[in-house]
Amino acid sequence: MQKIHQSTEYVITKVLANKGTIKGLTFNLKNLTENQRKMVYKLSDRVIFFKPILEEIIKKSSLLRGTGHKYKKQRNLLLIFIYEFLFGQLKKKRAGEVISEKKIKYVLGNKPISKLILVHSSQLHSALARIKIQKKVFRDEDLVEQKETTSNKEGLKFPKYFRVNPFKATVDEIVQKLVLEKWVDLGSSASNTSQQNTTLQTGQNLNKEKNEKEISKENSTEKSNSNQIVSKSMICNVPEVNTKTFYRDPMIPSLLVLPPTIDLHSHYLVKQFLMIAQNKASCFPPLILSGMDGELIDATSAPGNKTIQLAGLCPNQKVYAFEKDFKRGKLLKQRVKQSKATNVEIRVMDFLASNPKEFPKVSGILVDPSCSGSGVHGKKWEFTEERIMRLSAFQHKILCHALKFPNVKKVVYSTCSIRKEENEDVVAKTLEASHVKGVFKLKRALKNWKRRGIEPYQKCVRCSHDDLTIGFFVACFERIQQNLDQVKKRRRTNKKKEKIIKNKEQNKN
Ligand SMILES: C[S@@+](CC[C@H](N)C(=O)[O-])C[C@H]1O[C@@H](n2cnc3c(N)ncnc32)[C@H](O)[C@@H]1O
Repeated sequence: MQKIHQSTEYVITKVLANKGTIKGLTFNLKNLTENQRKMVYKLSDRVIFFKPILEEIIKKSSLLRGTGHKYKKQRNLLLIFIYEFLFGQLKKKRAGEVISEKKIKYVLGNKPISKLILVHSSQLHSALARIKIQKKVFRDEDLVEQKETTSNKEGLKFPKYFRVNPFKATVDEIVQKLVLEKWVDLGSSASNTSQQNTTLQTGQNLNKEKNEKEISKENSTEKSNSNQIVSKSMICNVPEVNTKTFYRDPMIPSLLVLPPTIDLHSHYLVKQFLMIAQNKASCFPPLILSGMDGELIDATSAPGNKTIQLAGLCPNQKVYAFEKDFKRGKLLKQRVKQSKATNVEIRVMDFLASNPKEFPKVSGILVDPSCSGSGVHGKKWEFTEERIMRLSAFQHKILCHALKFPNVKKVVYSTCSIRKEENEDVVAKTLEASHVKGVFKLKRALKNWKRRGIEPYQKCVRCSHDDLTIGFFVACFERIQQNLDQVKKRRRTNKKKEKIIKNKEQNKN
C-alpha cells in the first residue's frame, strides 16, 4: 500500500496546486501496474472529494497539536491516512467492529504518521460523529452529498452516449444485439421534426455515414430562423433510470442514448470496440469536418475518440492523427488498432513542430487541444486563473498553426471548457492573427443548434448541461482567400503569362 499512498500523495499535491488533473497525473505515473494506477486514481478522487470533511476532522481533533505539530508538512499524506481510517479500507462496517492489527499494518504501514493516527483513533471517530450530528446526516455518502448535491442530482439527468463504431458494426446490428439482451429500442428520440425522423429511420450503417454528412450539410444550409423548433428535437430524450431502454440520438444516427446510471464499461460491445463511449457534444467537431475532400488532420488526438469518428465518417480519406504525449500516443495507437480504422496515420509528435508545407493535400483540420475541462462535471475548481490564461495562450498558438496549412479549407476548434478565455477569446485573438485576418472567416457551425457562442461569436456552438451534454464549445474557421504565398505565386505566374503575351505581340509587330 505504501507505493499507492505515495503516488496518491503526489497526485493530490499536484492537483491541489493546480498543476494537473487527477486523470492526467495518474496516467503519467511511472512504475505502476494498470491496477495500481486505477487504485491511485480512485483514492485520489475520494480523498479530494472528502477533503473538506477530512480538514474539519483534523481541526476538531487534537491531531496536529503538541508533538503532532511536526506532521503539518505531511498534510496530504495525513488526509490520505485519515480517509483510509474513517472512510476507506479501515472503516468500521458496524459499531464495535474490531479491525485486525494485521489489516491496520497492511493499510497504514509502520510509519510514525500511522502511529499518530492510531493514537488519536477515538478522537477521529468522535470528530466524525460530531460532524454527522451537526450536519444531521447518518451515512458518510450524505456528508459528501451535502456538498455536492447539485452535481450528484444532475448526474442522474444525463444520459450515457455510445457511438456505434462503423468499422465493426452497423447501427442495426448493435441494436439487434442489445435487443437480444432484453434491451428495449425506443427508436428515434426526435419528437417533432420530419428532418430528424426521416434521417433516422433509415438506420442502416452504410447510410449512417451518408446521413451524418447529410445532417452536417443540412446544418450548414438551413435557415437559422427555424432554430427554435429544430433545436428542440436535436436534444434527445433521456431513457428512464434503471431501465434497459435506449433511444437513437435525433441528431447523430450512430449515437445511442442509454440511461444515466448504466455502466457498460465492461460490456463486450464496449470492450470489443463495437460501441465507443463518447459524449454527444464531442461528436460535433468530426461531424462538422466531414464532407471535405482530400486529407484530414486531427492535431491533438489521444485518446482518439474524434479521430476514430472522423476516420469512420471519411473512410476513403487519410486522417493524420498527431499526439504529443508518448504515453497517450501509445494509447491512441492501441485504440485506433482496436477500432479497425485503417485510414489513420498516427504521428506521435508535437503538432506545432509539423511543417504545414509537407501536407499540401490536407483540406480539413480538427483542433481539440488540452483545456481546463470545466465543461465536464467537477473539474472547474481544479484550475486557477493563471492556468486558464496559460491554456488560452497555448490554444491560440495551436489553432494559429493549423491555420497555416497551405490548402486547408476548414479548421474546427473545440474544447470541453465553458470558460470564455478558452473559447470565444481564443477565436477572437486568432481571427486577428496576421496570417488569418482576411484569409479565414468564422463559419456558422451546426446552423440549427440553438445554444450559440457568447456575442458577437454566435457563429460558434456552445453546449451545456441543459442540452444533456457536457459543456462544450465549437468554432469553425473557413478559408475565404488563398494564403498570401499562393496569392503571390499566382500573381507571379500571371505576370509571366502577361509578359509572354506581350513579347509575342511585340514579335508579331
Ligand atoms: C483534449 S485531448 C484530445 C481528445 C481527443 N480529441 C478525443 O476526442 O479523444 C488533447 C490532447 O492533445 C494532446 N496535445 C497537447 N498539446 C499537443 C501538441 N502540441 N501536439 C499534439 N498533441 C498535443 C494532449 O496530450 C492530449 O492528448
